[in-house]
Parts: sequence; C-alpha cells; structure tokens
Amino acid sequence: MKNLGILLSGRGSNFEAIARNVAAGKIPAKIAVVVSNREEAPGLARAREMGLTARFIPSKGKEREAYDRDVVAALEEAQVDLVCLAGFMRILSPYFIRAFPRRILNIHPALLPAFPGLDAQKQALEYGAKFSGCTVHIVDEGVDTGPIVCQAVVPVLDDDTAETLAARILKEEHRIYSQAICLMLEDKVRIEGRRALITPWKYGQTP
Ligand code: GRF
Repeated sequence: MKNLGILLSGRGSNFEAIARNVAAGKIPAKIAVVVSNREEAPGLARAREMGLTARFIPSKGKEREAYDRDVVAALEEAQVDLVCLAGFMRILSPYFIRAFPRRILNIHPALLPAFPGLDAQKQALEYGAKFSGCTVHIVDEGVDTGPIVCQAVVPVLDDDTAETLAARILKEEHRIYSQAICLMLEDKVRIEGRRALITPWKYGQTP
C-alpha cells in the first residue's frame, strides 16, 4: 500500500474529498500524514478528528528552505510516496522538489496555463472567459507550471460571482484530484517533456 502526504493551509475540502475516496477504497493508498503551516487550518482539525497523523509545522520566521527541510523530514518519516498539495499556500523550494522528484501533485482552480497564481476564479471571471475549470499538475520549480495530469472544464455563467464560479469549479476539483492520484499511484503517468501521457499499461512494461 502506498502512502500519501497531504499539505494544506486552510479549509481542506480537497483533502476531505481525497480522504473520503481513500476510506471508500477508491484510492489504493493510505493517508500517512497531513501537514499544515497554519495551526488554525480547519483541514488540520478535520484530519485530527479522522484520527490521521496531523502535524502543524510552523513556517513563521523560517527561511523557505529551512522550513521545507522540516516538512520533507516529516514526509520522509511517514514514508510518503506521493505528496498532494491541497490548498498549501507556499511555494516549494528546489530542495523540496528534488526530495520528491515528479512525486508532488497540485490542484489549481483554472485551466492552466491560463490564470496561474492567486484568485484564479476571479481572474477568469474578470477576463471574461466563457469557460474555466481546474487542473491537477505535477509540481516543478515554477509556479503552477508543471506537466498537466488532469483537467476539467466548467462554464462561466453571465450571473456568476467569483464565489459561485469557485463553487462550481470546486466540485470538479474534488473529482479530478482523486483521479489524478490514482493514475500516479498506478504508474500510469509517463512524462515526455512538458506532457504527462496517460498510458493504459504500467510504465516500464511492454504495452
Ligand atoms: C482550491 O480551490 C484549490 O484549487 C486551490 O486552493 C483551494 C483549496 O481549497 N489550490 P480547499 O482547502 O481544498 O477547500
């Protein structure tokens, strides 16, 4: 059984959706540790209620890499195979990324490469896009730039606010994040340059 490590900073609805799918046996893995850089993150409290190993690792006053060393140590201690960023509001250092090469996923609430960074739903609305959505990608050293594993498209309606659009996108986030995790755990994702190709056979095997 593979081990997941979840990193979050806030509400934690993506974490909860993953945890539900793990509990239902739909994701073949165990959540080995949940880490938050914010003590008050509701997601951290939920993880504790669920009886998971949940760790608050404070970032205040620490240099980026020093902080990342603490987090990587916690993930390694829990023998994590795949790291899932679920609303983790920090940019990872190259040290972190090299510790888990091609083994870190992130979810972003827009169709990358459109609208990277903060407030992606508001960006899409204000730009006037007719469709937006969400993206699960492998984390590289840029911000929201790594190879794309899964995307889902969501319409932008004329009477949308950033909040109503975010809610519509969030439903799809909850669905595709678990899908992408399964593909990664089952070694179905093959990276060629910028492209994450989904193969019906196991990586390394003859098709
Ligand atoms: C989501 O919109 C996700 O796409 C973005 O941060 C938000 C986290 O929400 N990266 P939650 O904490 O999972 O509810």
